[in-house]
Amino acid sequence: MDGSPEMTVKKLNIGLVGYGFMGRTHSNAFCQVPHFFDVPFAPVLKAACARDAAKLKPFAERWGYQSIETDWRKLVERKDIDLIDIASPNDTHMEVALAAAAAGKMVMCEKPLGRSAAESRRMVEAVEKAGVANMVWYNYRRVPAVTLAKQIIDEGKLGKIFHYRAKFLQDWTISKDLPQGGAGLWRLDVGVAGSGVTGDLLAHCIDTAMWLNGGIARVSGMTETFIKERHHTLTGKTEKVGIDDASLFLARFDNGSLASFEATRYARGHKALYTLEINGEHASIAWDLHDLHRLQYFDHRDEGRLRGWRSLHITDGDHPYMGKWWVPGLQIGYEHTFIHQAADFLAALGGGKSAAPTFRDALATDLVTDAVLKSARTGQWESAKDQ
Ligand SMILES: NC(=O)c1ccc[n+]([C@@H]2O[C@H](COP(=O)([O-])OP(=O)(O)OC[C@H]3O[C@@H](n4cnc5c(N)ncnc54)[C@H](O)[C@@H]3O)[C@@H](O)[C@H]2O)c1
Repeated sequence: MDGSPEMTVKKLNIGLVGYGFMGRTHSNAFCQVPHFFDVPFAPVLKAACARDAAKLKPFAERWGYQSIETDWRKLVERKDIDLIDIASPNDTHMEVALAAAAAGKMVMCEKPLGRSAAESRRMVEAVEKAGVANMVWYNYRRVPAVTLAKQIIDEGKLGKIFHYRAKFLQDWTISKDLPQGGAGLWRLDVGVAGSGVTGDLLAHCIDTAMWLNGGIARVSGMTETFIKERHHTLTGKTEKVGIDDASLFLARFDNGSLASFEATRYARGHKALYTLEINGEHASIAWDLHDLHRLQYFDHRDEGRLRGWRSLHITDGDHPYMGKWWVPGLQIGYEHTFIHQAADFLAALGGGKSAAPTFRDALATDLVTDAVLKSARTGQWESAKDQ
């Protein structure tokens, strides 16, 4: 991107849906991105949308949104909005995205794209038919250490890939007294979430895995729902739990490599332990979200006496994105991954393109999660490709 003063920066009017966890990360990204990256578009926080005006208003004021809407349909219809950013629960993604695309708006959407591949497919068709820029917030691709892993793999430093291993462990739903449904607990309601940890946590692992190591061909999965019934906050009744609390699967990639994936919300002591490891004939890479600014690298070609795992501190100016931040040795964190993604989106937009992962890329992830859930039901290996 040319950062010369002559570059004309145009305004891009954002309409955000949802002011929760992701509403904050996205708002922060839109605010910060022009301060650190030379982007051809400057996001303008035009309107924030959620159903409860009393709760939405303080959020909008804090972040500097110029207006609020309590119905996303009104937001989508507004002539002064260029881009709809969907940061609301999974059951809203498809409806909002289809309407936004039909209104000719660019669409950014949180993950998983749909509650199922069938929903995602409709969303892909909608944005592609409308010809609007689109992107899904699989933000872990933009952790500088993970982006560096991608560069190292693409340069062929690992050689032939044998194994990929990923896990995402949490422990916040172990209590049987935790209700399902409603604000903060919609992830436990299958009607809203679509699935449990498969669509929530494993989707991240799958997106990163396919970005680093190519497509997944087949999967064999196993899921469990440890607490079978929970009080439902919205209905006031005790209801069956339809989500998977834990999900494990084996996979074979298109390149022939073997993989294992695991996600659970029942791993006592773990809050967001996302780890990945990839083993090739010459070298291996390992990464851990709890230590996100480090990349572990082992290269068998090193001189024998000095050979061992290197712990790279990803803070130098020649590391991905880091030239835009502080000085070598000073690390950045979780929120920066969203700033990087916004920067890449705006840069791509300047060239008339969509930044990855696009809706189509995210559909590929939903095909894998659907196949994992299907395999857990059938007990068979299942294809992870579009049938
Ligand atoms: N990329 C990531 O790492 C990441 C992390 C967390 C969540 N997510 C995804 O982001 C999305 C939101 O998750 P969250 O954790 O921010 O949820 P949250 O519960 O913190 O916030 C959801 C927001 O959506 C609003 N909302 C709900 N229904 C709405 C409707 N019909 N119209 C308008 N607003 C509505 C709520 O008022 C709330 O502000 C989900 O799809 C989730 O899977 C992604």
